[in-house]
Amino acid sequence: MRTLNVDFSVFPVLKTERLLFRKLEDADETVFHRMRSEPLIIRYLDRAPDADLEATRMHMHRINTDQGNNMAIFWMLELRNNPGVAIGNIAYWRMEKENFRTEVGYTLLPEYWKKGIMKEALHKTTDYIFNTCGFHSILANINPDNQASASLLTSCGFKREAYHRQNLYYNGKFIDSEIYGLLATD
Ligand SMILES: CC(C)(COP(=O)(O)OP(=O)(O)OC[C@H]1O[C@@H](n2cnc3c(N)ncnc32)[C@H](O)[C@@H]1OP(=O)(O)O)[C@@H](O)C(=O)NCCC(=O)NCCS
Repeated sequence: MRTLNVDFSVFPVLKTERLLFRKLEDADETVFHRMRSEPLIIRYLDRAPDADLEATRMHMHRINTDQGNNMAIFWMLELRNNPGVAIGNIAYWRMEKENFRTEVGYTLLPEYWKKGIMKEALHKTTDYIFNTCGFHSILANINPDNQASASLLTSCGFKREAYHRQNLYYNGKFIDSEIYGLLATD
């Protein structure tokens, strides 16, 4: 029987040609609040924006708790040629260890869109999730109108696996979802 090697007690700092993947710090609260509340960024996330900095702090606390319990991993992204400036994040959560399965989520500040940055981050972290942690599948759950997210996933090899009709109720409306998946063996 295989087992999962999920241990984030020593935080896994990662690097690619352009990016540094680092731990979420308390000092990120302002930029993280922007990532969780700016209308353009959360347009397709189908949840309410963080009402204030305190709501963002509570979310940061949840991330740190889940990460401390080895149930999620959250990286803040920086450009290596501009250290100290967070530009986005990528995270794996909803870990179903019994099924070797986890869900990915990501956000980039709009001024960095369409430069191949999240593609670089997704490639690096899917490799880590499969080959270092030992997961077998990754899912992404997106709003079908989120063309940027769909293109990113497809361009990283994810396959469209399911379409759920009106499975989400948000803001007085029933909303559709699309599920994309990537296997370690793809
Ligand atoms: C989704 C998001 C992370 C994409 O990040 P990005 O760094 O701009 O994406 P990339 O530049 O790496 O592009 C990856 C691919 O998607 C395509 N793409 C990116 N944005 C696109 C858009 N708006 N429309 C169509 N295709 C797009 C790129 O052309 C590229 O395709 P290619 O590899 O065939 O050349 C970014 O748009 C974002 O943060 N959106 C807001 C938050 C969000 O919606 N998160 C996802 C929730 S499910």
